[in-house]
Amino acid sequence: MSAMPAQTKMTVPLLDLKAQYADIRQEVDEAMRRVMESTRFIGGPEVSGLEEEIARYSQCAHGVGCASGTDALLLSLRALSIGPGDEVVTSAYSFFASAGVIANVGATPVFVDIDPRTYNLDPHRLEAGITPRTKAVIAVHLYGQCCDLTAVKNICDKRRVWLVEDAAQAIGSEWEGRRAGSVGDFGCFSFFPSKNLGAAGDGGMVVTQSAEHADRVRLLREHGARPKYHHARIGTNSRLDALHAAILRVKLRHLDRWSETRAKNAEVYNRLFEGSPVGRPYHDPRARHIYNQYVIRIPKRDDLRQHLSDRGIGTEVYYPVPLHLQECFAMLSYKPGDMPAAEAAARETVALPIYPELGDERLRYVAQTIREFVER
Ligand SMILES: Cc1ncc(COP(=O)(O)O)c(C=O)c1O
Repeated sequence: MSAMPAQTKMTVPLLDLKAQYADIRQEVDEAMRRVMESTRFIGGPEVSGLEEEIARYSQCAHGVGCASGTDALLLSLRALSIGPGDEVVTSAYSFFASAGVIANVGATPVFVDIDPRTYNLDPHRLEAGITPRTKAVIAVHLYGQCCDLTAVKNICDKRRVWLVEDAAQAIGSEWEGRRAGSVGDFGCFSFFPSKNLGAAGDGGMVVTQSAEHADRVRLLREHGARPKYHHARIGTNSRLDALHAAILRVKLRHLDRWSETRAKNAEVYNRLFEGSPVGRPYHDPRARHIYNQYVIRIPKRDDLRQHLSDRGIGTEVYYPVPLHLQECFAMLSYKPGDMPAAEAAARETVALPIYPELGDERLRYVAQTIREFVER
């Protein structure tokens, strides 16, 4: 460990977007000015430019911007005409949107437990969740690491169900060389500010290899109107704003550098936790992990969070309640014990600061403060 005395108190937020802005201020300001002067606030070259760039970055043929990651998932399900009477299988451990969208199109969410090492949907359990009513699987790539896409895709193909990748936390991550979003029928990204590629507000994108699927999402995001004021389908207003698109195009140029620095930070943490009881994240050698989150596992998780908070260190629990036990899904009749791996993760995990501008000194301070807690 470093020679820094354990008592040195620093402030280490979970995420520092001011540091990111300071790094790219000139480029961002110039992009925003370009949009303001053009007054092309809806659609236009910034949005179509970003759609092309993200599609290319994600090894996909098409990109369709929309208002959020949640809407990217929702529009994908609606483009597949999934609705009442249908089932959609997803991970029991994710942000609420992965399951909320299923209920919001009138379908029934079916939960599958996670692999306790990666926190991603366990492909060995997936087939048991598929019934004749299953129309799709939403496979989540949690914390920035793809789920076992080869296994999941094989099962979806064999059972003839659609695969929607919830890649909200995983832009640029890879499974056996294939980018998140490029394997499924749809890939869904979120540009929520805390993501590796974050807008100055909400935003999202659907990527796909299919021109027909892209066209359906494009239609649905603008009230199903084609031509204007003629509505063959009922859609909604879910567009990505040009200002966000312009900012995201700037940030996309820095994304690989940021994701690599996050991965380096993870390696430093891993080394600093070696030989301690801290459960380090498992990085599957088949994956490119972009470390949207660095999540450790520790029995006295809430006490550790308090200890870190007292010493100026920000943490977060993603997520304290697994999806099958959320109050709003009580009608699905899941009970505690049904998904032991997801339930253990909800009790024992905590995310540490991992942002690219963190720097070695703060990293060591966080690791040292944690070791001080576990070794006392
Ligand atoms: C796994 C996952 N799915 C879906 C979403 C929804 O994205 P958004 O917040 O942009 O609607 C998020 C983001 O918070 C997420 O982390």
